[in-house]
Amino acid sequence: CDDTQPLFGLSGFPIGVAVDVPKLRYDNQYRDIVHNQFNSLTPENILKFENIHPAEAQYEWAEMDHLIEFAQSGNKRVHGHTLIWHKQLPVWLLNHKGNKEDWLVLMRDHIFKIMTRYKGKVQSWDVVNEAFNEDGTLRHSIWNQKIGPGYIEQAFLFAHQADKDALLFYNDFNLALNANKRKAVLKLITTLKSKNVPIHGIGMQMHVFDGFPSQTEINTAAIEFQKLGLKIHFSELDISLNPLANKQAPTNKMLGNQKRKIKMIVLNYQQLGISSKFGITVWGVSDIDSWIPANFNRMDWPLLYDDEYQTKPMYCGFKEGL
Ligand code: XIL
Repeated sequence: CDDTQPLFGLSGFPIGVAVDVPKLRYDNQYRDIVHNQFNSLTPENILKFENIHPAEAQYEWAEMDHLIEFAQSGNKRVHGHTLIWHKQLPVWLLNHKGNKEDWLVLMRDHIFKIMTRYKGKVQSWDVVNEAFNEDGTLRHSIWNQKIGPGYIEQAFLFAHQADKDALLFYNDFNLALNANKRKAVLKLITTLKSKNVPIHGIGMQMHVFDGFPSQTEINTAAIEFQKLGLKIHFSELDISLNPLANKQAPTNKMLGNQKRKIKMIVLNYQQLGISSKFGITVWGVSDIDSWIPANFNRMDWPLLYDDEYQTKPMYCGFKEGL
C-alpha cells in the first residue's frame, strides 16, 4: 500500500512512535520515516533514570534536547516516558541510603528537574510505569521499598506541582489481557481521583500477540478506563509473531494475521470518545529496532517496517484502520 501519504493526519488523533534518539542522529532513512509518518514521539530510552540522571548530581540533557529540537522543527508532540519506574535505574540510586523522607526528596528532585526543564515542550508524562505485578499486587520496587505504597500518589502530586499544565499518565502492560491487574489499576486510579490527586490518562502498553488479547478484551479494558474519564494512550504497540521462539522467518500468513490484528485494534480505538483519544504509539519503527529480540532472546517481527525499512502488511493494516 501507499506510504507516500503519512499515517498521521488520517484520523483525529496523533500517531506516535518510540524513538531511539542516537539512531535519529545517524540514520537518515530512519529519521525520514519518523519525520514523514508520525506526529507524536516518545523517547524509547533516553529519559529513563539511568540515562538522564546517571549520577546523583548529574543530569544528561543532550539527547532529550536533541529530540525536542527535532520534534519542534517538525511540529510534533513529545510524550515523556518515564519518570518513576523500577527498571533502568543507575547504580548510585540502587545503593542510595537514607530514610523515607530522603527518598521523597530524591524522587521530588528527579521529577522537578526533568519536568521543569521541559515545561511547555513536553506536555504529557508517564509519571509512574509498571507499578503492579500480574496478580494485581503492588510491585516491590525500590520506590515501594523506600517510600511505601504511597509513592505513586506522591509522584503524581510532585509532577503536578512541577508543571500544572502537564497531562499525567499511569502506564502499564497486559491491562487488556489480565483482568486482575486491570482491576488493581482501576482501583488505584479511582482512589487517586477520590483524593483529588491529578491523573489524566492511562497508557495501555499494547505489547500484544496476533492471537491475544482478543478484540473484546481490548475494547472492554479501554472502555473501563474511559469511564473513569481518562485519556487513553495505546502507548507501546507491537504485535509479536514468535512467542514460542520457533520461527526463523515470518510467513505471509503470519504477516496477514498481524495486518488484520492491527486494523482491528485501530478501528476499535476509533470508537472511543473524541476527548479520550490521546493517540496510538508504536514501539519502534522497523523490526530491526524492536526491543523484543534483545529483551526476550528470540527473533520477532512486531513492527510496521521490515529490516530494510520497507512497509509490511501491518503498515497497510494500520492505515486501513485510520
Ligand atoms: C524498553 C526499550 O524498548 C528497550 O530498548 C530497553 O532495552 C528496555 O526497555 N515497557 C516500557 C518500555 O515501559 O520503557 C520498555 O522499553 C518496554 C516495556
